[in-house]
Amino acid sequence: MKAQCRLSPIYARTPEDIITNDDLATITDTSDAWIVSRTGIRERCKLAADENASDLGLAASRRALDGAGLDAQELTHIITATCTQDELSPSIACILAGGLGAGPVMAFDFNAACSGFLYGLSLVRAILVENLQARILFVCAEALTRRLNWTDRSTCVLFGDGASACVCSGESRAGDAVLEDVICQSDGALNRLITVGGGTSCAYAPGQAVGPEFFLSMNGRETYRHAVRRMTDVCAHILERNGLRMKDVDLFVPHQANIRIIEAVGNRLGADSGRVFTNVERYGNTSSASIPLALAQAREEGRVEPGCRVLATAFGAGLTWGAALLRF
Ligand code: ACO
Repeated sequence: MKAQCRLSPIYARTPEDIITNDDLATITDTSDAWIVSRTGIRERCKLAADENASDLGLAASRRALDGAGLDAQELTHIITATCTQDELSPSIACILAGGLGAGPVMAFDFNAACSGFLYGLSLVRAILVENLQARILFVCAEALTRRLNWTDRSTCVLFGDGASACVCSGESRAGDAVLEDVICQSDGALNRLITVGGGTSCAYAPGQAVGPEFFLSMNGRETYRHAVRRMTDVCAHILERNGLRMKDVDLFVPHQANIRIIEAVGNRLGADSGRVFTNVERYGNTSSASIPLALAQAREEGRVEPGCRVLATAFGAGLTWGAALLRF
């Protein structure tokens, strides 16, 4: 039997603290006018000092399990997309397994930066091919503000924190979505374009101040150029290989990094602007959580009715990029 990968409704969790552009203008040399005109971002959410990405992931996971009518003991796998783990080890997935009271599930994190949701869809589909009975809790959990250099105005205005969760399985349930296709790609030759520090290459001694390599760094202009080209091409590719055109897509959900990138990709693909979902103004770039946050909001707003086809696309550090077709 062919495995069908189905997603239960996605639940999102963002921190309560909101940082507006005006707040940022008090700590770095920027302005609301510059940020809005160059990025479309007006505010973003920031973790409290005593919260971590796993706390957001746990709250989203509890809601996703409730929504799917499942007990944590019924899960077979927990996988988490993140480029901002609480610690290098243990994984957020194991922290979630402990917090939820899961059984002896296979639990691991992976890092595909902002393409994490799409890479995760490809992973869960592969798990379901191996095990049709699998029930996978798929979480995206990010704490980008923990790696922002607040004196670097070219990056600190762009990112925010957030998490999402859903259950993926082969079982058909009301309100779920079917993964129709997914493509995940990368170009490792461009791995220096965006880096998020704090790994083992940051060799600090106890008590020593961290250096600039601890923080997120990005060549914004180059990233922008590659992002527009890669997302446009991969969307055209996935549509073509499924015999579809942009007019067959009811909702286009691009990675929420920058409104100008979203508009450039939408225009190149000939997307009707009324069918392009954006919430970058509220959350900024939440990396792997960006597309699922958008999908959760779109569902709450009634923009993904049963039968609706969604095209999602993302790019991120690595460079990684991809596209997926989902049918609700
Ligand atoms: N406020 C005010 N001025 C600023 C700011 C700021 N926050 N940031 C940069 N500037 C200045 C620059 O210093 C520069 O000034 P100069 O001309 O005097 O040197 C000027 O504005 C223009 O800078 P650019 O970098 O050319 O601005 P651009 O229009 O390219 O916008 C941006 C920058 C928003 C970063 C854009 O390039 C972008 O969005 N790139 C893509 C980033 C992205 O989406 N990354 C996602 C992947 S992240 C991941 O995977 C974890």
